[in-house]
Amino acid sequence: MGYRVAIIGAGAVAQRHLEALTKMGLQGVAIADIDQDRAQQAATGSGMNPYTDYREMIGMEQPDIAVITLPHFLHKEVAVWCARHGCHMLLEKPMALNREECDEISQAVAENQVKLMVGHTQHYLAENRKAKEILAAGELGDPVMIQDTRHLYYYHRDRPDWFFEKKRAGGGILMNLGAHSIDKIQWLTDSRITKVKASLSFHGDRGDVEGSGTVFMETSKGFPATLFQSGYPGAPKNETELICTKGMLKWGAGEGLWLSRGGDYRQVPVDDQRDPFVLQLEELVTSIQEDREPECSGEYARTVVSVLETIYCSHKTGRELVVGRGETSC
Ligand SMILES: NC(=O)c1ccc[n+]([C@@H]2O[C@H](COP(=O)([O-])OP(=O)(O)OC[C@H]3O[C@@H](n4cnc5c(N)ncnc54)[C@H](O)[C@@H]3O)[C@@H](O)[C@H]2O)c1
Repeated sequence: MGYRVAIIGAGAVAQRHLEALTKMGLQGVAIADIDQDRAQQAATGSGMNPYTDYREMIGMEQPDIAVITLPHFLHKEVAVWCARHGCHMLLEKPMALNREECDEISQAVAENQVKLMVGHTQHYLAENRKAKEILAAGELGDPVMIQDTRHLYYYHRDRPDWFFEKKRAGGGILMNLGAHSIDKIQWLTDSRITKVKASLSFHGDRGDVEGSGTVFMETSKGFPATLFQSGYPGAPKNETELICTKGMLKWGAGEGLWLSRGGDYRQVPVDDQRDPFVLQLEELVTSIQEDREPECSGEYARTVVSVLETIYCSHKTGRELVVGRGETSC
């Protein structure tokens, strides 16, 4: 394939991208982090050149692809810089803090004719793919409701501070994990979320972001979707349930998929899970080779950010809001 790849941000998720590069045999040339030790450590283990300034790295190394794994408030600045320096990009989710930032990125991508893929990894999880395949085959009829529930202790000490600051993260558990759920619902059902009524809570012992959210949504296909997420102490849960006119599905990532056409749920086999970070990078590389938009394009990822913005505004105003309209007043 011959692509030279650089990583910007050597934090928690960068390790997954490094492993994906190795598994794919792609050449990782350099890694940048403002924390010199972190850049050095990641570079030592992977044979890449370490930098503390991503601009210097891009200038010196001129990689074909930049993988951007930074705090959310830096996504726009860095993606625009990389696009202007001719790099194709795998940008971690969420695309940016708001729609205006997404538009700036998309403009730079279009002007410089590079490919942008946003890291919505839900597309590459075996249970999600099987659920999408069953739904698309039509055997369950049409969706009438979908519920996505995620409980995960969010306030663990290892989570870096920026995740708890509205200014740097854009929000809390919803901005971070809700981005995955919104993507999952839209992609799985081939629809877009069009209306939102959200109620959030702020009882965490760190920062100023929400620790839970209950969100009632409507999709462009007319059926409702609900999202329940909490980051307070409790039993972890990651479950999606999709009810259709002729049957229903429920599943959890890495836990299995169950189907009912009447009577009890029975388990359905799913394909072995391949590394989702490899699958997404393969999709980016193929989109470059075929000169087409990747599945999670900037245009698509912007729809997820737009829903998130609407969620925060709905909570603030106490109103149900149409996505893409009105929430800028917040
Ligand atoms: N797709 C997934 O499943 C998944 C999983 C985890 C995280 N993420 C996303 O990945 C991104 C990073 O998350 P993380 O958990 O790795 O965060 P992290 O805080 O562990 O890592 C971020 C790194 O960026 C570095 N950094 C900060 N400012 C910098 C700058 N100006 N230049 C260079 N480096 C800088 C920090 O020092 C840190 O090492 C976020 O967008 C997050 O939402 C995605």
